[in-house]
Amino acid sequence: MTHLFTPLTLRGTTFTNRAWLAPMCQYSSRDGFPDDWHLVHLGARAAGGFGLLLTEASAVVPEGRISPQDAGLWSDEHAVAWRRVTDFVHARGTRIGVQLAHAGRKASTYRPFAPGSGSVPVPEGGWRTLGPSALAFDGLAAPAAMTADEVAAVPAAFAAAARRAVAAGFDVVEVHAAHGYLLHQFLSPLSNTRDDAWGGSLENRARLLVETVDAVRAVWPDDRPLLVRVSATDWTPGGLTVDDVASVARTLAARGVDLVDVSSGGNALASIPVEPGYQVPFARRVREVSGLPVAAVGVLDEPRLAEKVLAGGDADAVLLGRAALRDPSWPLRAAHELGVRLDSLPAGDDHGATVPLDAVTATGYQPQYARGAFR
Ligand SMILES: Cc1cc2nc3c(=O)[nH]c(=O)nc-3n(C[C@H](O)[C@H](O)[C@H](O)COP(=O)(O)O)c2cc1C
Repeated sequence: MTHLFTPLTLRGTTFTNRAWLAPMCQYSSRDGFPDDWHLVHLGARAAGGFGLLLTEASAVVPEGRISPQDAGLWSDEHAVAWRRVTDFVHARGTRIGVQLAHAGRKASTYRPFAPGSGSVPVPEGGWRTLGPSALAFDGLAAPAAMTADEVAAVPAAFAAAARRAVAAGFDVVEVHAAHGYLLHQFLSPLSNTRDDAWGGSLENRARLLVETVDAVRAVWPDDRPLLVRVSATDWTPGGLTVDDVASVARTLAARGVDLVDVSSGGNALASIPVEPGYQVPFARRVREVSGLPVAAVGVLDEPRLAEKVLAGGDADAVLLGRAALRDPSWPLRAAHELGVRLDSLPAGDDHGATVPLDAVTATGYQPQYARGAFR
């Protein structure tokens, strides 16, 4: 048996395998609602065998969207819309988590394929952004520095969205504290120059993340896992380092976080040496220091590499992003390449449960025409 196809249990929730879909913005929502696009994007990957699907960054408040076309979970109506997606995924026998997010100073930007670039002006449907300090991200409008009341409202907004995530049927919540969005902005000295309880020392800069995790954990069911996505380094002198982030992860372990999803970058324009598995050493370090399970992500496209990362104890799960966009059935292909016979992956209802899986993954299946059934 491979590590990739060994189930993983966190709290009371079991994932059939460790090949998980990375959260990816679809820039396709109106007023934050998931629609047919999201059902097909996530549904196709559920049928494709991923053990956990993470939704795109979903805003806890409208002004927390990266672009006006981002998904969200800021009202009960959003929860109803997400329920259609989670029901479909559950009927395939797999798990789905929502990534809860607030973009802070990186909110209100044009989606990547829009004619505009940078910050969307208010008359065009944009909004004034907020951040820990009035420091702009390169190329974007400067945010207003958040008042103490505005900071204090953040954990409550994440908790309210987490409560809706229960109603929406999600199995997992992931708090997005990476890629230069609000919680990362607070963590990083590059974007946080506050002189109150949320600024200064690493402990103070981590306070908002810890408060947010506490607020979410308080409303999130005990048997369901809580994940946090971090950027392990800012890749910039004077910015966050992996040791800073690993020590924050150790704090999170004591606050009921179940797994850290280890990415990097996003809070400064930096030169990043991207290559297969380039973020894996960060995952390993966070795992060692925090004692928590971790997920590795970043150019893990080749099944044998993903398997090696798990077998070597670098990580407990792997996330696939762009490879999963190219191939919605990446796990089925991985099973085929690794010679794994699967009998527990989602493939539809009872009458379709094994034949399609055998056809694409097992080594022994012979289509009928190979035995001369079709003339
Ligand atoms: C189109 C696209 C949208 C993304 N949106 C998100 C997002 O909403 N939240 C997030 O944490 N990361 C996001 N990411 C980053 C991915 O989750 C992943 O970390 C990154 O693509 C590296 O993994 P890969 O090499 O397998 O693609 C996005 C990546 C892509 C390509």
